[in-house]
Amino acid sequence: MLPRETLPGVYVCADAAELARTAARRFVDWAWQSIAKEGNFNVALSGGSTPQELYRLLATPEFRAQVDWPRVHLFWGDERAVPPDSPESNYGNARRELLLRVPIPAGNVHRMEAEDANIGRAAHDYESALRQFLPLDDRGFPRFHLILLGLGKEGHTASLFPGSKLLRETSRWVSTPLVPKIGARRMTLTLPVLEAAVRVVFLVAGADKASILREVLCDHPDPPLPAQMVKPREGERLFFVDEAAASKLSASQSQPMPKGNS
Ligand code: 6PG
Repeated sequence: MLPRETLPGVYVCADAAELARTAARRFVDWAWQSIAKEGNFNVALSGGSTPQELYRLLATPEFRAQVDWPRVHLFWGDERAVPPDSPESNYGNARRELLLRVPIPAGNVHRMEAEDANIGRAAHDYESALRQFLPLDDRGFPRFHLILLGLGKEGHTASLFPGSKLLRETSRWVSTPLVPKIGARRMTLTLPVLEAAVRVVFLVAGADKASILREVLCDHPDPPLPAQMVKPREGERLFFVDEAAASKLSASQSQPMPKGNS
């Protein structure tokens, strides 16, 4: 059964398991389309806990066999300043749940080395990897076929947090903000890169995200929340959410979110 669309581009799934299954099915479809059209499928994975079930599902025989992994290139939207074997590592978690279980060549996996003592140089190296493997859009930014994003309870996404001057970045592709809220440094793709994507998909699950999801989709705070600022210039923006996260949404209660460029 297809998830129901409440607001334009917002698909509500019964629970986190159906959300993961819906996302896995679409990942396979989008991989086929991108590989057929351009010969590869360039993806930026999200960190956090929400996408872990999706990664686990993609690694199962049912889904693993449907993806031409040697034509997939995996990057990350952001990373914590921790070593890859840390339980906090976005790369480490994806490696455990997905990378070790699918036939993706090591050269197709591009992790952010945010633990590097010289994180600025690591960010520069990451920009070089983006330049080497991704086509550029008409504004000169690397164009992903798919960027997966999560939503923090205060409206952050990737490592773009409310109040950060990084939200005004217009030229750099990768940045390394010190995040006061967590008292740590991160490495993150910047808004211009997120907005260059063919498709951005937010994965949001759990009752604890109901308030922020409603604010992101239905309210118009000034300044806008980081997650509200991610508007692909030519691509589409989708939200795959579960009923618990959607519990404060209803099309009748809110002005529909401005339609993305879908
Ligand atoms: C990170 C993520 C971050 C995450 C949100 C939601 O490195 O933490 O990139 O943006 O997606 O905080 O996290 P959960 O999925 O764990 O709720």
